[in-house]
Amino acid sequence: MKLKIADPGDLEDGQAKSFRIVLKGRYVNGFLIRFQGTLFAYQNKCRHLPISLDYDDARFFDSEKRYLVCQTHGALYEPEGGLCIDGPCRGESLYAIALETNESGVYVETEGEGEI
Ligand code: FES
Repeated sequence: MKLKIADPGDLEDGQAKSFRIVLKGRYVNGFLIRFQGTLFAYQNKCRHLPISLDYDDARFFDSEKRYLVCQTHGALYEPEGGLCIDGPCRGESLYAIALETNESGVYVETEGEGEI
């Protein structure tokens, strides 16, 4: 099933919002961002430890809104593609979540009841 996570114009550049879906029988936390006009979504999980990037406050960008950052250790990820360019997970990428966008909203696939 599809979960609507945003309206098409919801986020401005450098903004983010969290959501939760069910994948392979488990809840997975994700986040949606807009960067240079484009929407991206990733699982909210650092690639070096299975902890969230934010402190449950939807703060994913660094202060310049150029990179996504692990708030605990400072690892930096590229917003477009999720590649870690600095930190213990350098060279690995966040797990992307496919988006479907049309004039009625931005949707992600979930196997069960999701939430935003
Ligand atoms: S958990 Fe990986 S850099 Fe923070």
